[in-house]
Amino acid sequence: MLYQVSPGGQLSGTIRVPGDKSVSHRAIMLGSLAEGTTRIRGFLEGEDALSTMNAFRLMGVHIDGPENGQVIVHGVGMHGLKSAGVLIDLGNSGTSMRLLAGLLSAQHFASCLVGDSSLMKRPMLRVADPLRLMGAMIHTGEKGYPPLDIQPSEGLQGIEYELPVASAQVKSSLLLAGLYASGETVVIEPAVTRDHTERMLKAFGYSLNVSGSRISLAGGGHLKACNIEIPADISSAAFFMVGASIAKGSDIILTDVGINPTRTGIIDILRLMGADLSILNQRQAGGEPVADIRVRSAKLHGVKIPASLVPLAIDEFPALFIAAANACGQTVLTGAEELRVKESDRIQVMADGLSILGVRNQPMPDGIIIEGGGYHGGVIDSHGDHRIAMSFTMAALCASEPLSILDCVNVGTSFPGFAELAFQAGVQLQVGDSA
Ligand code: S3P
Repeated sequence: MLYQVSPGGQLSGTIRVPGDKSVSHRAIMLGSLAEGTTRIRGFLEGEDALSTMNAFRLMGVHIDGPENGQVIVHGVGMHGLKSAGVLIDLGNSGTSMRLLAGLLSAQHFASCLVGDSSLMKRPMLRVADPLRLMGAMIHTGEKGYPPLDIQPSEGLQGIEYELPVASAQVKSSLLLAGLYASGETVVIEPAVTRDHTERMLKAFGYSLNVSGSRISLAGGGHLKACNIEIPADISSAAFFMVGASIAKGSDIILTDVGINPTRTGIIDILRLMGADLSILNQRQAGGEPVADIRVRSAKLHGVKIPASLVPLAIDEFPALFIAAANACGQTVLTGAEELRVKESDRIQVMADGLSILGVRNQPMPDGIIIEGGGYHGGVIDSHGDHRIAMSFTMAALCASEPLSILDCVNVGTSFPGFAELAFQAGVQLQVGDSA
């Protein structure tokens, strides 16, 4: 799939982007393990969240939907999962694989987790190593990549583990294993990462302690079904925040966006760059803070991105690099080596795409320097990375010539309907067939 985007235009109107991916995964997982029926609204009907749903169906959980974002999960209780009996294919979804690794390490049956060509090259030792310390019988493929072969263990023990990388996936994987471990499981974070697992465990009635960077829980408890309302995904809203900031005359409202403080780095960084964002109508929904966000175009300037904001905007850097390309002066990002092991090497793939457009940039092992200014058009290879494809779509708003963006099919992993919504908001986008 190919996007052909004509330059020019501005973003306007009121739109709701799809449900939060991180929260959608966790709602299926905890709903499946709960006692009783969990009703979910606003579920992301994207392939990643559907991969998680499919995995639980394979393990015997009865799930109705999704239908217009509504899902009903008939929980089987902490010990009610059954062997899938087949390889569990998690597609493009790193979150599914890493969180399931923790959960499945504690089951009385064996599992084998695989994925698409991108997922089969993503690092899994970051979960396998600490899970083995807990007693898990988990084998990775070569170089610590999937497949993950998980055999039943003789029982997990809680550990105290200092995360070597700031990763919500690793934290969550260990907490899910910890639900089944004897004693206490303690995870210490080097920096704040998204806390949806902690919030949702509490919503399902599981007690856990959070004290600064130290999160702990005791194994052996139960989850009680509840109703979950999933906010619109700030990571998907990010493309429209950047598009509206850079395209002159834009004025758009993004509704029901999750503004959990562990996710709002995109807002803070754009504001540092001079963006005009207003947070309206703040409220709580399903244990998460939510707001409408109004974005008007503004003159952006380059910034040195503060290290503390990196984990809080980790998925938004491809979009932020497009903001930087449209800003006056230099933007410098460091301390973001994690970007190299996402769905693609996001530092290199963005650097290559920016160079094709004529944007001067200097990739570094842990970041990039981008010189803002005008740029022309060209053909961009997204390398099958959804966030790269959507970021360059927004770049076209300010290009002097059309952009063609290749390999866009994976946009459907996180943002089904992106092309239609972007078109409706004002992006001159046509979907084509690369062949
Ligand atoms: C996620 C955590 C982040 C993020 C990913 C979703 C989650 O990954 O990049 O898209 O839902 O826990 P890391 O934990 O690897 O930083």
